[in-house]
Amino acid sequence: MQNVATIFNAQEEYYDRVSDLWYSWHFSRLHAIIAEHIIKNHHPGKVIDIGSGTGFQSLLYAASGSEVIGIDIAEKLIEKARIKARIKAKHLNLDQLKLFPAHFDYVNRYNRFIDVIVQRSRGNKPFKEPVFKIANVLNLPFDPNEFDHVNCCGSVLNFVPDYEQAIYEMGRVLKPNGTFVIDLDMRLNPDIFWFFIDSLLKGKLGINKDFWQGLKLLISPPKQNVQIDFPFGDEDDPINMDMNLFTKHSVIQSLRNNNLKVERSWSIHSLTNIIPSVYLDNVNPSPNLCRFFKILSKLEERFHFFPGCSQVFIGKKI
Ligand SMILES: C[S@@+](CC[C@H](N)C(=O)[O-])C[C@H]1O[C@@H](n2cnc3c(N)ncnc32)[C@H](O)[C@@H]1O
Repeated sequence: MQNVATIFNAQEEYYDRVSDLWYSWHFSRLHAIIAEHIIKNHHPGKVIDIGSGTGFQSLLYAASGSEVIGIDIAEKLIEKARIKARIKAKHLNLDQLKLFPAHFDYVNRYNRFIDVIVQRSRGNKPFKEPVFKIANVLNLPFDPNEFDHVNCCGSVLNFVPDYEQAIYEMGRVLKPNGTFVIDLDMRLNPDIFWFFIDSLLKGKLGINKDFWQGLKLLISPPKQNVQIDFPFGDEDDPINMDMNLFTKHSVIQSLRNNNLKVERSWSIHSLTNIIPSVYLDNVNPSPNLCRFFKILSKLEERFHFFPGCSQVFIGKKI
């Protein structure tokens, strides 16, 4: 577990830059889904943000009037989240939440959409600074049924080998009828196709992913999660980290075993991932790439049921 914290601590400086198409699309879509389907419909009172990182979603809920506790194992990200929360509490024009810089038009469009919902939901309530604590999802330091809503987004559970225990803890701290949102990286995604093409072309596309890992993702039993070694950090000197990639079936089942019933789900990076992720995870995309991305992203908004790299699940504790 220390390894996971070390890797995320090392991202402290650049985590919030979100200056590429891949992550800005991911967070824009995710935050809009949370705003529209959780904040607008449920106005959760007390929220726990599990794996809160630098506090993107914690700040989103707090700006909409919720009381928020964020927990994470990476102490440097927790410190960064605390500083951001203090700054927002003092200076933020809460009408413009802007969680990360808007390098692309769609970020502005999504920000406007999110801001309207957040403002309406907050009404006249003051902004309550979220509280951030160092804690592990495997052993949450909270009483049963303490929260109205559990947020666990940004692939947190992909990095937790004992994710069943994490889901148990999420179910334990959530009140009956409370809501949850979970966002995970999925096993069957369009990038797999690019692994193979690149291997056949002897790495000419520059994707540099392992052929055998791609094969494992494709041929393992259809409902089974698959563990891969994922290279993080410096391209020339990456640190490999175990990552579980989930199937929709196994996520729904594991949640169900803990009385967490999935009501809706959306994929992110399905059609946009017709472009290999390595080209989108690039801070200087060409104008042509941006234009093509714009068309695919518009289509993806409509057809969010195709398998994608990420899947957002929302539901309730029954
Ligand atoms: C990709 S970040 C997501 C952060 C934030 N939710 C967001 O969407 O920006 C994943 C986070 O999960 C945290 N994490 C990983 N394993 C964890 C664990 N066992 N308990 C708590 N947090 C964990 C990491 O430290 C990291 O901050």
